[in-house]
Amino acid sequence: MDATSPILLFDSGIGGLTVLDEMRKVLPDAPVIYAADMAGLPYGTKSEAEVAARVAGLLGRMAERYQPRLICIACNTASTIALGMVRDVLETPIVGTVPAIKPAAALTKSGVFGLLGTETTMRQKYVDDLEHAFAVGKRLLRHGANELVPLAEAKLRGEGVRVDDVAEVAKGLVLQAHGREIDTIVLACTHFPLLEDELREAFGEDVDFVHGAQGIARRIAHLTEGQRFERGSGDRAVTTGELADFERLSQAFAARGIDRLEKF
Ligand code: DGL
Repeated sequence: MDATSPILLFDSGIGGLTVLDEMRKVLPDAPVIYAADMAGLPYGTKSEAEVAARVAGLLGRMAERYQPRLICIACNTASTIALGMVRDVLETPIVGTVPAIKPAAALTKSGVFGLLGTETTMRQKYVDDLEHAFAVGKRLLRHGANELVPLAEAKLRGEGVRVDDVAEVAKGLVLQAHGREIDTIVLACTHFPLLEDELREAFGEDVDFVHGAQGIARRIAHLTEGQRFERGSGDRAVTTGELADFERLSQAFAARGIDRLEKF
């Protein structure tokens, strides 16, 4: 294994940075390429076929170009649709990001908990299976919150986010039958923890938020245990979109030690 071989974190946009933040805590020296499919953002409004084709095609080309030691699909939408398929075609170890229904079901005291993700994620069989396996006897309320994705992107570009806009989305859960009994919410989109302050204000202090980033970071650390890491020429972030647009996020990347932004 080449010590400079990177861990590739892939998302439609900047949501995967929530996974990178946790990964840095356990693997501070790992070389990283952060790959954002900005030309395909958002995935949450796309069909299963579109997401599967984009993710499988891009990851195949990225694996060839960057020779990563491991790929993390840091996106719930892409993972719940394409994880199995990508694992079938690539030899690189793949870590996916799936809704943290299991820990949230263990945490809820009221027995009613919420699931916020993209509309595409909400309708995946993968999510039905997690609910059947781990939420028996509990009530899981789902809401597709595509609107939060551009708000999170805007926040990281340094634009202001209004709590009112986030609160409007929160109503989609709270106003459902039994919605007011929700005490725990799964943030099943990697973009959403970037809005945790606004979500906390919108839902109130009594609601706990759960997401999978820490668990994913631990999984990556486990799979790369004993491997040598060398940063080489430094970490970088690549985009499938326009570089000028991507550069508006340069502060968010710089804050995470990534100064090289490139077009894929
Ligand atoms: N970050 C992605 C997720 O975790 C979705 C954002 C999008 O709609 O592209 O589901």
